Amino acid sequence: MEEELLRLKAEAVAALAASGKDELEPFRVKYLGRKGLFTSVMRQLGQASAEDRPRLGKLANDIRQELELTFAARLEELGGGNVGGSGPRLDLTLPGRTEPCGRPHPVTQVMEEVCGIFEGLGFTVAEGPDVETDFYNFEALNIPPHHPARDMHDTFYVSDSLLLRTHTSPMQIRAMTEQQPPLRMIAPGKVYRCDSDITHTPMFHQVEGFLVDRKVSFADLKGVLSVFIAKMFHSDTAIRFRPSFFPFTEPSAEVDIGCVICGGKGCRVCKQTGWLEILGAGMIDPAVFAKVGYDSEQYSGFAFGLGIERIAMLKYGITDIRLYYENDLRFLSQF
Ligand code: FA5
Repeated sequence: MEEELLRLKAEAVAALAASGKDELEPFRVKYLGRKGLFTSVMRQLGQASAEDRPRLGKLANDIRQELELTFAARLEELGGGNVGGSGPRLDLTLPGRTEPCGRPHPVTQVMEEVCGIFEGLGFTVAEGPDVETDFYNFEALNIPPHHPARDMHDTFYVSDSLLLRTHTSPMQIRAMTEQQPPLRMIAPGKVYRCDSDITHTPMFHQVEGFLVDRKVSFADLKGVLSVFIAKMFHSDTAIRFRPSFFPFTEPSAEVDIGCVICGGKGCRVCKQTGWLEILGAGMIDPAVFAKVGYDSEQYSGFAFGLGIERIAMLKYGITDIRLYYENDLRFLSQF
């Protein structure tokens, strides 16, 4: 059989060297095809002794591979292309290439998770316009023109009375002017401020939450936010309410959680304090109730506004907020 194989190889090499382009396909069928000469010699392998079989099998495979390469080289030499069915061999058993599948942006994923937690606590969802009037964004929230609190928000103005909303708090006013208490609502959406560094972007997302009813107290606010933080992070996440000021809430607080990046030891992201601010909150100021016609003797309420990008940074351990908006697929496809 060995002799037969070597003879066939010599014959095939000579035939190939003498073949023109039109003879290549008949050559392939005669020597390398499924019913070709090589296949029929290889069929005899079963009759060889068990001792010789591995050696002969290897020889046959080597010769076949060599002939296939010589065939490809000859084809190339004669101008390439596809000769009958003999062109570049297609491996039909290879798995197909799948289209890369898109997915929601990490900020969208966190936004959905946040809204889901509050919906589970009975809050309904409302949305409002990105372009807002000065009245809803500032005045009705107890921030009259020239009030120093306007400095807290670096505002993009569209005209004298129109602006890109700087927070989602205008939705408190929109909801309260349209509906009577009890109210339990969240308002997710984009907000804009002329601000950019590792923890600030000019466009970011907030979720406003507010609840108005009889006998609502700061303890209710603390309870709702504690449940939210435990669900969003870990049940043992450290929380602190820090006294603060917002013109539309009294008393007001900022809520910090223990830095999840450094575990509270102090790092660049928490500015070595061990704490990270995630939201502002407080009891709705009676002056705001007066603007919307609610009786503050009968009703009280709390409100809070949280930054989604900030929460997404903490959840995923991202140390620069701007990464969310660079559209780098290497970053985005990790979520
Ligand atoms: C407010 O915007 C208030 N409207 C929140 C509020 C609502 C207070 C209801 C009381 C009652 P503040 O400016 O602190 O507050 O922003 C709230 C959150 O938005 C911050 O805690 C922070 O997480 C996030 N944030 C603020 N500025 C940026 C920014 N430029 N980029 C990304 N996130 C920001």
